[in-house]
Amino acid sequence: MSKSGAKKIQAIRGMNDLLPSDSPRWQFFEAKVRTLMQRYGFDEIRMPIVEQTALFARSIGEVTDIVEKEMYTFEDRNGDSLTLRPEGTASCLRAAMEHGLLYNQTQRLWYQGPMFRHERPQKGRYRQFHQVGVEAYGFDGPDIDAEVILLSARLWQELGLSEHVTLELNSLGSLEARAAYRETLVAYFNEHRALLDEDSLRRLESNPLRILDSKNPDMAAMLDAAPQLLEHLDDESREHFEALKRMLEAAGVQYVINPRLVRGLDYYSRTVFEWTTTALGSQGTVCAGGRYDGLVEQLGGKPTPAVGFAMGIERLILLLDTLALVPSEALGGSDVYLLALDDSATTEALTLAERLRSELPELALTLHCGGGSFKSRMKKADKSSARIALLLGEDEVASGSVTVKFLRDDREQRQINQRELATILPELLTR
Ligand code: HAM
Repeated sequence: MSKSGAKKIQAIRGMNDLLPSDSPRWQFFEAKVRTLMQRYGFDEIRMPIVEQTALFARSIGEVTDIVEKEMYTFEDRNGDSLTLRPEGTASCLRAAMEHGLLYNQTQRLWYQGPMFRHERPQKGRYRQFHQVGVEAYGFDGPDIDAEVILLSARLWQELGLSEHVTLELNSLGSLEARAAYRETLVAYFNEHRALLDEDSLRRLESNPLRILDSKNPDMAAMLDAAPQLLEHLDDESREHFEALKRMLEAAGVQYVINPRLVRGLDYYSRTVFEWTTTALGSQGTVCAGGRYDGLVEQLGGKPTPAVGFAMGIERLILLLDTLALVPSEALGGSDVYLLALDDSATTEALTLAERLRSELPELALTLHCGGGSFKSRMKKADKSSARIALLLGEDEVASGSVTVKFLRDDREQRQINQRELATILPELLTR
């Protein structure tokens, strides 16, 4: 409590501030992603954060954890039920359908932004988190599945993460094959009913495939022996999956088949995949996705094949931090700190700073503001990330020069003509 008795208001649990010390890592990551998307021919789309609740209920599935337990749903002032998006796939598809982007054409889209799920917060799991997502519409062959996986693999390579992530693959088959498999699986689980935990008993009625995803060690042996989806694939899905595996092999991407990978969202069919790491503890999935060929039709459009994935930015940044993989030059900050020695040169310092910013658009320059003693000005320069301080006092103003002081290197300070600064400064900063 403060003196006035007012209680300080805090952020919502599981929703994080990104502080100035965090932002450079995010910018580094985001810049890599943006360039990569361009190199692979994916175009950016930005959707609203709030959608009608029915969009998520109908696409993600009524009996999924997300829709049953995790959505931030509220009534707005008109009495409409709205939801903060828990993921981007449904919104992206809604936008593409609404704007005719699927009409007689294919699309390769990407987005990034906050998503919201009311999960129990822990390391790597938050209530507001951020995803980069990729969605491709109108392609039914396995080449596009391979292409989106290769895109993600290249990102890992560029970030230095390749050695630390594993690609897990599975195929869920067609909707019909899955329905038949579901019956086989329910029969098997009924035979082993005594081994099912409470959650699984509930899922046995609503979503039996999700039981395969259970982490309960008491059920592990029984689940290992369960009939496998891959053995119940329809011919077309099997061929699709085999072709995808061949393409990944040809491209040198290693994978492991995880026959129990079913994903927590209902819209998938055929290919599903996850990139996982063991370096983050229990929240080790850094990227996940797959095919969802039935969703466009389910949302009222013409049947259109679709495939995509989303990665969790927080988890990837945690991973980069854990492995110390953010290059120091990506940590941002200013190159130069410009200060007047006393108040008499404030205006000259300001105009010199502006001139330098015009002449050297790449330069990151912080101008000292707020006055203070010479000592405190120099302290601020030292505390900044700058490698060079430019000092401007009465003498310098009179002679049209500036004093260059090296803040991080053991080098003599020197005076240079202000007119030569634009040429000399970049040289001083590279050496
Ligand atoms: P998802 O598996 O629900 O899939 O989420 C994708 C990724 O988002 C996860 O692998 C994880 O890295 C991150 N993530 C999910 N929940 C959290 C959380 N609470 N805190 C931090 N990170 C989290 C989807 O969202 C699908 N829309 C992916 C997709 C796109 N499938 C096809 N297209």
